[in-house]
Amino acid sequence: MPTQVTVSAPVNIAVVKYWGKRDTSLLLPTNSSLSLTLSQDDLRSTTTVRIDALFNKDRLWLNGKEEDATANKRMVRVVQELRAVRKELQNKDSSLEALDEQKMHICSENNFPTAAGLASSASGFAALTFGIAHALGIADKISTADLSRLARQGSGSACRSLFGGFVAWNMGINPDGSDSVAEQVADEKHWPDMEALVLVASDARKDTPSTAGMQLTIETSDLLRERIANVVPQRMSDIKTAIVNKNYDAFAEHTMRDSNQFHAVCLDTFPPITYLNDVSRAVIHLVTAYNNLFTEKSDNAASSKKGYRAAYTFDAGPNAVLYVRREHVPEILAIVNATFPAPADADKQTYLGRAAQYVGQ
Ligand code: PMV
Repeated sequence: MPTQVTVSAPVNIAVVKYWGKRDTSLLLPTNSSLSLTLSQDDLRSTTTVRIDALFNKDRLWLNGKEEDATANKRMVRVVQELRAVRKELQNKDSSLEALDEQKMHICSENNFPTAAGLASSASGFAALTFGIAHALGIADKISTADLSRLARQGSGSACRSLFGGFVAWNMGINPDGSDSVAEQVADEKHWPDMEALVLVASDARKDTPSTAGMQLTIETSDLLRERIANVVPQRMSDIKTAIVNKNYDAFAEHTMRDSNQFHAVCLDTFPPITYLNDVSRAVIHLVTAYNNLFTEKSDNAASSKKGYRAAYTFDAGPNAVLYVRREHVPEILAIVNATFPAPADADKQTYLGRAAQYVGQ
């Protein structure tokens, strides 16, 4: 009997960024990271997997276009690993019929621009891993942590999309990657008024894919070493505390500082990598000016009281994600839309300021 399943997985956007691999084949990171998983109602990858004895080879369609399924080494690896897990379970459980020799057809679509710095590889590989696990009949036989470990081998950040809410990916120390897994810091109901506004400045594919960019950064950036050793460990701890205590000001400051440092590290790479564009920089200035309206000034700079209203973060692309509280969304969208008016012919997903996405389901 053929099996066919369709699943979807959401995007996650990091507030402490992963950038750098200590093992490029197992996809083990040089630092821990932390993200928020957005609601599936908004940005998602939907993947259909069919396993059929009539198929003579594995095939893959991405956004409606057939790709060479053997050329995508990361995908091949995830498929192989899942088949191996299935075989192992089959050997232990005689009620599981032998499926591992059967070929699969995989069809995956994103409802948002692919490879434009909007975490399409995270949702894509999370959906792929989950979908294949379901089609192989093993999704309920392995833990989410194990699924996360498998998804990590497709795209590092994908390991965080297997969980909702606030998710940490602990870098781990084991050479085999067994402890490099994602775990939930707080679930999607924890901070219900936290929202993510996705401001699409450009839907073009990025010039430097993250894998190539990370490698160059590892080889050439001194600032990355400083970040890994002296910044991220403390920031991970501080931002987790901010999340647990729902301390928006602390959360916002760490989020913006981490995004700034990630892009500084890109600039410190040689030759430099630039993901931000003029629109991105204009968003940073706009958010800074807006936040300054709520900062109580004092003669002593150290005692100025911050009252952040919006926190920007940028992945490997020019598009901004603003983490904001729900009560401020109408005002912030009004300001963004007044500052960056949409062209008359703009598509809903491709201009700045309209695509409001929500965290917290
Ligand atoms: O998982 P990758 O290889 O697509 O890399 C993701 C890198 C960033 O999005 C920039 C940061 C992150 O932690 O998601």
